[in-house]
Amino acid sequence: MKHSLEEIAQALVAKGKGILAADETVPTISKRFEALGIQSTAESRRAYREMLVMTPDLSRFVSGVILYDETIRQADGHGTPLAEAITRAGIMPGIKVDTGAKPLAACPDETVTEGLDGLRDRLKEYQSIGARFAKWRAVIRVSDHLPSETCVEVNAQALGRYAALCQEQGLVPIVEPEVLMDGTHSLARAEQVTPAVLERVFHALYTQRVSLEGMLLKPNMVVPGKESAERASVAAIATATLRVLSRHVPAAVPGIVFLSGGQDERRATAHLNAMNAGSATHPWRVSFSYGRALQDPALEAWGGRASGVQAGQQALVHRARCNSAASLGTYDESIETDTAEAGIASHRAQWSDD
Ligand code: 13P
Repeated sequence: MKHSLEEIAQALVAKGKGILAADETVPTISKRFEALGIQSTAESRRAYREMLVMTPDLSRFVSGVILYDETIRQADGHGTPLAEAITRAGIMPGIKVDTGAKPLAACPDETVTEGLDGLRDRLKEYQSIGARFAKWRAVIRVSDHLPSETCVEVNAQALGRYAALCQEQGLVPIVEPEVLMDGTHSLARAEQVTPAVLERVFHALYTQRVSLEGMLLKPNMVVPGKESAERASVAAIATATLRVLSRHVPAAVPGIVFLSGGQDERRATAHLNAMNAGSATHPWRVSFSYGRALQDPALEAWGGRASGVQAGQQALVHRARCNSAASLGTYDESIETDTAEAGIASHRAQWSDD
């Protein structure tokens, strides 16, 4: 059955659910493997991704998984194409379709994300393999004088062109303008740059006739730079982030799914929870599309060993459950030490009203 863009977008941000980003390029995943002494081969990457996506109970907390080109062409241990196995597990396969951030001519230290050439045909192929949504990441570096107007403009234009092409091919675009958390900038500086970027991005989406109802936004949270001496509280970060989003993200967008950006995994969960806690109401669903903040403990527990699969899956479902609770505003530090079974049972009771 063919689903509309709106139906897919809404299903991706169904109550209590978020997205697992497992779309690292070969060089990026190889770096993460090597840091733990795991050899990076097509087979070890396949085994790792199979472990993640086949995690029992994952579909209770995760609606979609973003894959990389290599992975979406691979099969599980029984020879079933991974995209098909993921769909059967009740999770939607998605695909990273940009080809990476490349140096931007005449703009030192800045990048433009490439991948528009031939994109229509690639989207057609991914759709035929089973992808239901796509992702494109633009990267914006912050300093006292960055980003340049040029960098923001060319990246916003590319996001608009990508999103329009995705919708033409029936794929929901996840629009990811990532204002980097690297740097020494303050929370106030992050709160200056993020809205300026979002404003340009939504202008490009509007002028390129992208249907806001059929897309999701994947932004950064508004935080001080990782090398800044400033320590902002969970509440300050949640407040600044929501202030920016409420001013710049139209209510027609069904969901905002944050990237984690290298935040400590518990902090990433606490920030998401603070945005959804109490009597908070938003026009869009506020959830997660984390890479490292979901995967790091799972990768470490797996360690490249077949005997580590169960521990890896437990670690993943645990973080997914914590972030699912955070998307409902019901996360509490005590969930961190709950046994998985008890946690899942109580969680099920919480969202049975959906
Ligand atoms: P992180 O959550 O590790 O930032 O990754 C999310 C992502 O998809 C980056 O493009």
